[in-house]
Amino acid sequence: MILIGFMGAGKTSIGRNLSEILNQPFYDLDKEIMKEINMPLSKYFEIHGESQFRQLEHQYLSKYYQLPGIISTGGGCVETVENRILLEKMNNVIYLKADFDILQKRITDDQVSLRPIAQNNSIEELRSVYMNRFAFYQSCANHTIETDHLTTQEVVDGVINLI
Ligand code: S3P
Repeated sequence: MILIGFMGAGKTSIGRNLSEILNQPFYDLDKEIMKEINMPLSKYFEIHGESQFRQLEHQYLSKYYQLPGIISTGGGCVETVENRILLEKMNNVIYLKADFDILQKRITDDQVSLRPIAQNNSIEELRSVYMNRFAFYQSCANHTIETDHLTTQEVVDGVINLI
């Protein structure tokens, strides 16, 4: 199963919970990438730029997408056509959907994950990134869960009921 959605949608925490409940391995693609690059993503973006990161992200998605388990992706995973082709081939792609204002607040409140796309764009620019990706998330997903007013546990239960 693969979790997609914008930054702040809860892909990592929902993925980790699902992996424990379903007793399946969990892969967070951003964390796997960071093991290789050995630096925070914000630093990687600064040195190498976004397009190089997208290439790495594609390599990792290609490597992991067919493995049994739960995979959480970065919010920009749907940006490249190569990734969308892979996602469209899969059966269990879950889109964790949330309203932009809720996501934006979570991103701002999160002092731990410093997200280059959020740091380098104004709120209005970020909103337009969200709007542009919206159709991609929907076309790649087999299932969508509206997470706006749900707790982590309710989202996890919702995913389990879907599969
Ligand atoms: C990105 C989202 C991040 C991470 C990178 C780029 C994006 O992942 O992959 O900073 O383009 O939306 P999260 O969605 O886990 O924050």
